[in-house]
Amino acid sequence: MPDRPQPTVVLGVTGGIAAYKAVEVCRRLVEAGAHVVPVLTADARRFVGEATFSALASEPAQTELFGGPTPIPHTALGRAAEVVVVAPATADFLARYAAGLAGDLLGATLLATQAPVVVCPAMHTEMWEHPSVQENLATLVRRGVTVVPPGTGPLAAGDVGVGRLAEPEAIVEVVLGMLGAHGDLAGYAVAVSAGGTREPIDPVRHLSNRSSGKQGQALAHAALRRGAEVTLVTTVDPVLAPHPRLRVVRVSTAAEMEAAMGVEAEKADAIIMAAAVADFRPVTVADHKLTKDQGVPQLVLERTPDILAGLAARRRPGQVIVGFAAETDDPVARARAKRAAKGVDLMVVNDVSAPGVGFDHDTNAVTIVSASGEQEVPLSTKTVVADAVLDRVAELLAAGHRLTPEGH
Ligand code: C5P
Repeated sequence: MPDRPQPTVVLGVTGGIAAYKAVEVCRRLVEAGAHVVPVLTADARRFVGEATFSALASEPAQTELFGGPTPIPHTALGRAAEVVVVAPATADFLARYAAGLAGDLLGATLLATQAPVVVCPAMHTEMWEHPSVQENLATLVRRGVTVVPPGTGPLAAGDVGVGRLAEPEAIVEVVLGMLGAHGDLAGYAVAVSAGGTREPIDPVRHLSNRSSGKQGQALAHAALRRGAEVTLVTTVDPVLAPHPRLRVVRVSTAAEMEAAMGVEAEKADAIIMAAAVADFRPVTVADHKLTKDQGVPQLVLERTPDILAGLAARRRPGQVIVGFAAETDDPVARARAKRAAKGVDLMVVNDVSAPGVGFDHDTNAVTIVSASGEQEVPLSTKTVVADAVLDRVAELLAAGHRLTPEGH
């Protein structure tokens, strides 16, 4: 969030063992450029001291409704907040919040704010599954509160099950996505494809490739963070927590991806084809499993539709279209030719023969090829690569916006 004043995030911490993870949420939010004010309940302080939060946050932690430095702290906090996030949110807190109780600083702040609120429940499985907890959550969701659901894993006292606080990274993604309402992609719809397509041979076998879908997911999350409405058309499950502004469309084959992207293209301002679409598929799909006693099957393949070229051929005015290319020989020259042949704005090329690049890795090194030249992004995380691509997309959208103001 470099180009605007730091947005204020009120981080509510309630009294559960996962309170120690809220320290990491605090640290990561500050690192991402937010102005974080921790508000601790009395029980939260049984688990983590306020000194820890005060040392990491942007302001000292606040704990008291009465007797602190500001006379009416809850309204000051409520008005300053751009997002209030409560992590962890205990069963007791959820009940109090759903009932509208305002007897402590966090409860009062939540009633005094008009900012979006995110709650991140964490508790033992039995409590999480209790109807009163679920009904309180349903009440909060109906009122517009966003829930980052707990995960499954080790709980306190050696228990294992659902109820574990979502990972700090995932919580921070959701908060940053909400702050992104002011980002450079705010108001734009972005469709991203991710993962390798699967082309069936018979009911149990398919042809596919090694794409992990990680670069596409990184693009989707970076676009959310920058304020876009994002649809991820993917062959793999997203790894991060469900995001309130992320629509996920699951597909499997190139034909399904073509159909889904065709629908998205009608409303998308930017289309990013990060998927590794199979180039070939079996002409016929056996409706029964092919067995060894039938002999070795001869697979006859045909070309799949070039989804990207098709989308580019039907592009709407001002729409920005981005392709990805994995190459091993002369990547930039091949990408230049591909960009022109497919008629897209940007072709992002990676040399998949280089170490740490492309398939399966969390890192990537790319060259972004456009009509006006090339930009190299050296080996970095897929998030950094995503933001570099989105910088260019945002520039093109802004330019297109000026050319076709009626387009949006
Ligand atoms: O031609 P090549 O497969 O290298 O192009 C890669 C780009 O084209 C990627 O953006 C990929 O998502 C897209 N593509 C496609 N349909 C295909 C093959 C690739 O949209 N059948």
